[in-house]
This record gives sequence, structure tokens and C-alpha cells, in this order.
Amino acid sequence: MATHTLNRNSFGDPKNAGNLLSIEEAHELLNEWVPNDRLRLHMKQVAANMKAWALEKEQADEKTALKWELAGLLHDADWEKYPDDHCRVIIEELEKRNIDPEIIHCIASHGPSYFGVEPISKMDKMIYAIDELSGFIHAAALIRPTRYEGLEVKSVLKRLKTPSFAAQVSRDDINDAVSRIDTPLEELVQFIIDHQKDIS
Ligand SMILES: [Fe+2]
Repeated sequence: MATHTLNRNSFGDPKNAGNLLSIEEAHELLNEWVPNDRLRLHMKQVAANMKAWALEKEQADEKTALKWELAGLLHDADWEKYPDDHCRVIIEELEKRNIDPEIIHCIASHGPSYFGVEPISKMDKMIYAIDELSGFIHAAALIRPTRYEGLEVKSVLKRLKTPSFAAQVSRDDINDAVSRIDTPLEELVQFIIDHQKDIS
């Protein structure tokens, strides 16, 4: 991934707070921008985890949960078409559409070592923690004959300690992200397995 730092720290316009895409509009954008099924599935999985986390762990209302879901759904929307400009293009698109700045900041900070933007809100910190782990857990499920069925946290943790497995997933990023939240890695892995296993 040849990403560039964004070189900015302010995203969107505060007067757009509360402006959200509908979930249908977000899926439309995704279908248009992301022809790759595998990548679309990744975003749907991250979105499902984000929405569930907001509702179950943050006692968020429906509108706040939709914000978390939208950030998850759109965080890699430009990755397939603009790999060298990920995630600048989707950020500018959402700014053009006058979308809530919290969603845009969340997307901008989902990889601080790549984009140079620090996660600040709980939503920012959770997308950072969920993103890489979600992809890693999916890879761990795919190599099993029964996929997610019977997939245990301890086998995911063991694979994390095996550098050759899904080698492109940065263990440093995962450790850094988990160090910024107060949920242990084991618990987050279980949460992700439970909430993404049925997403298709
Ligand atoms: Fe991602």
C-alpha cells in the first residue's frame, strides 16, 4: 500500500455535525467505488463490528451507531481505485458531500502510521483497533474447513504470534491500537468473531 500522509489534522466542517449518509447511499457509493467483493466484505465486516460496538459497549443511540457504521463501511472506499491516494480521495468526497466531521476524522485516523492522523475519539480508536484485527480474523477463518464455526480466540492469538501467517497484517499496528483502548485483546477478538461471522 503506497499511502501518503494526509498532512492535515482538521477534517470536514463543524457546521455539518449530524449530517449523515443513509445506509443505502453508503452502500451505493461502495458498490460504485469498490467492485472487489473481498474488499467490500471487509468493509461490511468492519461496519458491523463498529455498529455493534457502539450499541452494545457505548450505549449509543441509533443515529450515533449509524455514524460508527458509516465510518466502518466507507473507511477503505477509495482503496481499490486510488491505492496511491488512499484515504485522501474518500475524505475529500465526504467533505464535498458535507458529511459529519466526526466520520471524516475517524476515517482519516484509521491508520496513524500511514496517514499521520492520531485517533482522538472513541470511534477513532475503535476503527483503528477493529480494522486490522477484522481482516486478520477473517484470514484465520478462511483457512479452516468450517470457517468461523468453532474458531477460538486462542487460535487467533497463536496465529498473531506466527509472523508468516497473514504477514501483511502489521502486528505493531494491532498492538499499538489495542494499547489505546481499555479492552483486552482477547475480548476484542471474541467480539469481532461474534459480530462478523455471519456478514456476507
Ligand atoms: Fe480496512
